[in-house]
Amino acid sequence: MPVMKDKELRIVGFLCNWCSYGGADTAGVARAEQPTDLRIIRVPCSGRVDPLFIVKALLSGADGVLVSGCHPRDCHYSSGNFYARRRLEVLKHFLPALGIDNARFEYTWVSASEGQRWQQVVTAFTRRIHTLGAAPGFEDAPLLMKTADMAPAPLRPLGTGKNAPLESLKQAIKEKLPDLACVIGWKQGYDDAHTTPLFAKKPEDVDELVWGPLNAANLAVYLPLFKGKKVGIVVKGCDSRSVVELLQENLVAREDVTIFALPCEGTLDMGRVNEKLGRYNVVGGIAHGATNITITTDGQEHDFSMAEYAQNKCRGCTEPEAVLSDVRMGDSPLVQGEAPVPQELALLDAMNLDERRSFWRTQMERCLRCYACRNACPMCVCRDYCISDSRDPHWMTQEAGVTQKLFFQTIHALHLAGRCTGCGECQRACPVGIPILGLRQHIARTVGELFDNYRAGIDPAAVPPLLGYEVEERNIREREWK
Ligand code: FES
Repeated sequence: MPVMKDKELRIVGFLCNWCSYGGADTAGVARAEQPTDLRIIRVPCSGRVDPLFIVKALLSGADGVLVSGCHPRDCHYSSGNFYARRRLEVLKHFLPALGIDNARFEYTWVSASEGQRWQQVVTAFTRRIHTLGAAPGFEDAPLLMKTADMAPAPLRPLGTGKNAPLESLKQAIKEKLPDLACVIGWKQGYDDAHTTPLFAKKPEDVDELVWGPLNAANLAVYLPLFKGKKVGIVVKGCDSRSVVELLQENLVAREDVTIFALPCEGTLDMGRVNEKLGRYNVVGGIAHGATNITITTDGQEHDFSMAEYAQNKCRGCTEPEAVLSDVRMGDSPLVQGEAPVPQELALLDAMNLDERRSFWRTQMERCLRCYACRNACPMCVCRDYCISDSRDPHWMTQEAGVTQKLFFQTIHALHLAGRCTGCGECQRACPVGIPILGLRQHIARTVGELFDNYRAGIDPAAVPPLLGYEVEERNIREREWK
């Protein structure tokens, strides 16, 4: 018999087989009165509960989701609930970024003998969901288009790398090249105004290497493809963090990679550059000043100052120098001040839950599901085994609906939790300019707040927080049930 008098809502419960499922059973045997809204899914351990189960349930129409496992230190598999606690806490902080009230999700611990506690938990959670009412959907949220403000003043002077010791770097690469399968860098692309990856295998290939604000792509994305081979890579400061993260996760071996670095003076936002260039037939040339570049198309000159046309991420960048390198040249510009809140994140912060739901509905209407964001991401390493492509289990349908697209973005964001180095390649690769970096930045901030200011890709010896746990977490407290 329902404890709640009004209509039942859809609440999904993931219960550990060894404790909470037994606790629910104990409550039933004792004939403890309980609400009947909960639909229980029995799992072998709370550690088996992927946060994506919860997001999928909420995006598919659940009004609330409850996860319950064994008390800390009582896990049947000794540590499954310790891992779960970190992941679920990060998810709890992340849901509002999507526009989902995180009161609709809770996790807790109930042992097999705690029938009374189970009754208390399920009654309190069901009452909470009834107070919130049926969950609002994304498909029918009103449309809301917002764009991030222009970036603040940069933390360091932005330039074009005109005086970087490129020739000395080429010489150093040529000296190391005989021991390497190739060196990854940038070369001129289909015209002077664009660059493309260079895979230098011969000394004459190295002569094609270019350096400057057109080198926007993060080449670390190619490193795992060379696993087991000795390879060199030229990096900007932000790219070096991705290399470090790959090292942290043993996706490349330190002895296999030689890192060449020059201090970065910023990269151009090619979306805005191309917008200003408009349609043209031929690039007549490109000239580098100290703080601006001039691109000539069809005989007309276009000037781009770095102060105005740099990527947003470059303004808040605190690592113009590589965090790890084997060959480093040039002087790094002095960084002054604290990194500001990134624009995409500030945009999310300024909205309430309803606005965020409308915002993401509007953005996802534009998403093409081209997966360019995933393919450009240096930390998306599953390649052909990405779960968003999987038919078994079938995580996502082929529908072009808003919730499927948002679910895909959530998969990407949550798989980067504690791993995203903020390089922004996902957003840069997006052909329709969806500010998806904000979701990654939101999680990165949460991870920093929960785990001692952790930042991905800084320390090669550090264990990413979601790959570890502490028995007594300093910043995660169990919530009380009343
Ligand atoms: Fe119950 Fe791990 S076995 S939480």
